[in-house]
Amino acid sequence: MALDKNVAATLENQINKELYSAYLYLAFADYFEDRGLKGYANWYMIQTQEEVAHAKILRRYLLDNGFTPELAAIDKPDVKDPSDLGILKQGLEHEEYVTSLINTCYKAAYDVHDFRTMQLLDWFVKEQGEEETNASDLIKDYELFGSDPKGLYSLDREYLTRAFVAPTLPM
Ligand code: FEO
Repeated sequence: MALDKNVAATLENQINKELYSAYLYLAFADYFEDRGLKGYANWYMIQTQEEVAHAKILRRYLLDNGFTPELAAIDKPDVKDPSDLGILKQGLEHEEYVTSLINTCYKAAYDVHDFRTMQLLDWFVKEQGEEETNASDLIKDYELFGSDPKGLYSLDREYLTRAFVAPTLPM
């Protein structure tokens, strides 16, 4: 069954948003590099890789379903409050926004009974839950320990250990 045009358009738009997310997190990583917090910088570099992986999954899905996505310009990353906590909070807000976009994709698929795309998006729905939890935990940890130099040092060391694991979809 050919992919519905509106469903394809929402997924195509989502590719751009995932790549913007990668770009935004790259800007976050640059901020933390500049601060000398290499663990936080690493955390956001891994996040950048994850976002690119999300975009690639959507691209593959569209191609495999007979639709060649048209790639649009990626906006300049907008770091609203260049402070440690400002960035961590923007990270959570951004993930909540991405969740709303995934929900828009899901609704488009739901409306035309596109169960195949819904199955793909089930993975993204779950992933967004994890993304929001991770972003929220970063804030909580910073608020608990980040104002103390030793606490911040420990957190930064911890985030230095984060490694990229390519996502595997149950499809
Ligand atoms: Fe691909 Fe962080 O959402």
